[in-house]
Amino acid sequence: MDAHEFGYFTEENSVEVVTNRNKNTQNPRLKEVMEVITRKLHEAVKEIEPTDEEWMHAIQFLTKTGQICDDYRQEYILLSDILGVSMLADAIQSRRPSGATENTVLGPFHVGEVPEMEMGSNICLDQKGEPMLVHGCIRDLAGNPLKGARIDVWQANDEGFYDVQQRGVQPDFNLRGVFHTGEDGRYWFKAIKPRYYPIPDDGPVGQLLGMLGRHPNRPAHFHYLITLDGYQKLTTHIFDPDDKYIHSDAVFGVKESLMAEFKRIDDPAKVKEHGFSDVYYDVEYDFVLAQSTDKETAA
Ligand code: BEZ
Ligand code: FE
Repeated sequence: MDAHEFGYFTEENSVEVVTNRNKNTQNPRLKEVMEVITRKLHEAVKEIEPTDEEWMHAIQFLTKTGQICDDYRQEYILLSDILGVSMLADAIQSRRPSGATENTVLGPFHVGEVPEMEMGSNICLDQKGEPMLVHGCIRDLAGNPLKGARIDVWQANDEGFYDVQQRGVQPDFNLRGVFHTGEDGRYWFKAIKPRYYPIPDDGPVGQLLGMLGRHPNRPAHFHYLITLDGYQKLTTHIFDPDDKYIHSDAVFGVKESLMAEFKRIDDPAKVKEHGFSDVYYDVEYDFVLAQSTDKETAA
């Protein structure tokens, strides 16, 4: 079809003209994506009717978002997070049978090559914060315990910072650990009671949140990345339901099923049994892994 059949670009035929111009796109997925994006974007512009000033403002926002990105800071992912796009994409990518633990955002603070620890170890390396016992079981959908599951956990400290945000202040790999389950599928480790914290808000995304009348905080949580051959990778958190931001997570990561009770334990017998010196917190949460689909195994 000749480009000219659509005539020259007008406000009315804008989608057809642009989409037709892209007709020779080789990659069918790119072609499909560009068609949808063109249609939706033009629809938005037609509804918004931006002034020249507003259009320039949008360009400057995107420019600043790019300029603040580096190897450690990904402002575009943060933008996707606060728009709910990260959680929406994840929901689509991780549809699971009912009963399987749900996914949530990975976030920017996961690091590789975290030292493997013996089950029961304390991931807090600087003795700061209120002690906590974190435990539970990894199971399949039928309730059988899963042996050999790799559990990668990480959390912020009691001031709301990850170790990588405070290099030289916190020890390297503070509040991180990798564990493997045995025959009984159980896991347990010592940590500290996490606290809410703000996502990085000193850039354009933080500025946008402010203009939208939103706070930048995430409710207290532990991050988990659980893997086992034959099962779908589980990227998730457990959340403290009593946190003041539990209903307004800046990145929409909270799911009802991921809330766990953070119990305060002051029974001296329990304090002694678990090797604490005083009051501690306890959270128990079982994770259920779904088997990989054929598609994932082949990939
Ligand atoms: C986090 O939980 O570590 C996180 C998630 C999304 C954006 C920023 C931080
Ligand atoms: Fe986090």
